[in-house]
Amino acid sequence: MDFKHEIIALLKPATKLSEEELSPLVASPPDPKLGDYAFPCFKLGKNAKEEADKLKAKLKLPKFIEKVEVSGPYLNFFLSKTFLVEQTLSAIRQERKKYGAGTEKKSIVVEFCSPNTNKPLHLGHVRNMALGDALSRILAFRGNKVHPVEIINDRGVHICKSMLAYERWGNSQKPDKKTDHFVGDFYVLFATKAKEDEHLEQEAQEILIKWEHGDKKVLALWKKMNKWVVDGFRQTYTKFGVKFEKEYFESDFYTKGKDIAYDGLEKGFFVKDETGAIVAPLDDFGLGKKVIVRGDGTAVYITQDLHLAELRYQEFKCDQQIYVVASEQNLHFKQLFKLMELFQRPYAKNLYHLNYGLVNLPTGRMKSREGTVVDADDIMEEMFGLAEKEIRARYTELSEAEIKKRAHDIGISALRFYMLRVDAIKEMIFNPQESISFEGETGPYVQYTHARACSIIRKAAEKASAKISLKVDFSKLKEKEELAVVKLLYEFPEAVSKAAELYKPHIITSHLLLLAQRFNEFYHAQQVISDDKELMKARLLLVDGVRQVLANGLGLLGITALEEM
Ligand code: ARG
Repeated sequence: MDFKHEIIALLKPATKLSEEELSPLVASPPDPKLGDYAFPCFKLGKNAKEEADKLKAKLKLPKFIEKVEVSGPYLNFFLSKTFLVEQTLSAIRQERKKYGAGTEKKSIVVEFCSPNTNKPLHLGHVRNMALGDALSRILAFRGNKVHPVEIINDRGVHICKSMLAYERWGNSQKPDKKTDHFVGDFYVLFATKAKEDEHLEQEAQEILIKWEHGDKKVLALWKKMNKWVVDGFRQTYTKFGVKFEKEYFESDFYTKGKDIAYDGLEKGFFVKDETGAIVAPLDDFGLGKKVIVRGDGTAVYITQDLHLAELRYQEFKCDQQIYVVASEQNLHFKQLFKLMELFQRPYAKNLYHLNYGLVNLPTGRMKSREGTVVDADDIMEEMFGLAEKEIRARYTELSEAEIKKRAHDIGISALRFYMLRVDAIKEMIFNPQESISFEGETGPYVQYTHARACSIIRKAAEKASAKISLKVDFSKLKEKEELAVVKLLYEFPEAVSKAAELYKPHIITSHLLLLAQRFNEFYHAQQVISDDKELMKARLLLVDGVRQVLANGLGLLGITALEEM
């Protein structure tokens, strides 16, 4: 039940104001002593206080409102606590996995991860995947048809560098490690050698030209090495728990982008600069000059995007396309979206760049071979190791298989939650040790709270044969800790809808943390299993509501809700 909506419905006939006028006025007051909702009466007449009194006398209160009080120019509404408890707990129990879901029906493409095929995924990709995957799940939970996709940038000078290094110094060796790491090593080798030999950059560019001209030898090597990298990516995706409905490969359609460029040149959208490159003059929009095709005829990064947006629009009949890409590329996407607008593409207004800030490790930590970033695989292994240590310290009687499984679920939870709890646009430090802690603002803490709720329910069944049922006396739940928990349960659907509307998964992490904290306060203050059977039944239903909402919320973040921990 949407109380705000109901209060508006109540006020409509009494105030003669429209829904649109009332909606922004009815709000939760900052101080809970002033009730659950307040309505300022300024619009009703000169003397707002008098109007508030008149309004109070006029209203016939429905069951869900306990009382209304005038406070200055405001009319304050106090919800019936028992009614709120009953409504909320019944809704959760009836809707279960669907509690918080919506009925939106848009088709939305969410593009995320989208790596280049010269090296393995790194820490930044982990933040990207956490965001893209959570956003996809949230939007799908809201009822939308979500298409998670990625574009693999498998052509360009970056891969030519790895190819050149492999040809020159690789001795036709087969991979002796995870295949994407194997290729990445040659990319690093190229960078080292290029410091001493300035011709190498030029040679890589020549390979690119050969590639664009379909040189057989170059293509064969390119195929082999790209396969190694993409196979490696896919293993990492599986480990992290992301799936794509479709993978696009830049090499399949980059020439279509070139056609758009030549066409734009003919029509006068683009110009040629002194190097012969095709350029989009976007100075009038404060977006500079954007090279679309190089002077030597080779494609650049944006060439693909000119076609890709169109392709996906046709393929998915989508209402919206979201690009999850680091904020370093803000300008790129501003330029791209502006071009789409200038080309009068019907979807130009429905393109959204979800940008996110850099992730670093705490200072003093060892960096990867390349000296700049940490590999995604390495950080995941580290998390599994930390989780395993934590589990072994707590339990002695678990099987090895069970330890490994839990270590995986807890490690991924730590990683994802820590990445998601910060607003995406902010830079952040990923602290592995802190993220794995069972206390504090972490994924394992929320998982642990969920496991605690499950354990209370199990014990109640064992010790008191108590079963969860909706046939309870809801008025039994009136302690302030209980009501605080119910309020957060009630607000969960609103948090989900806000997270979807603003593309901000951290709204969910914040809500879950708060719920976990309030629930733990309740657990420490109140006894669930007790001799008062009616009270026990009511509290058990509350515990089950918390269990369900934590599970639903964790699911939206791609985290497994463990029943035991
Ligand atoms: N592969 C690019 C990179 O690693 C990101 C691709 C983003 N997506 C796009 N449609 N441009 O920087």
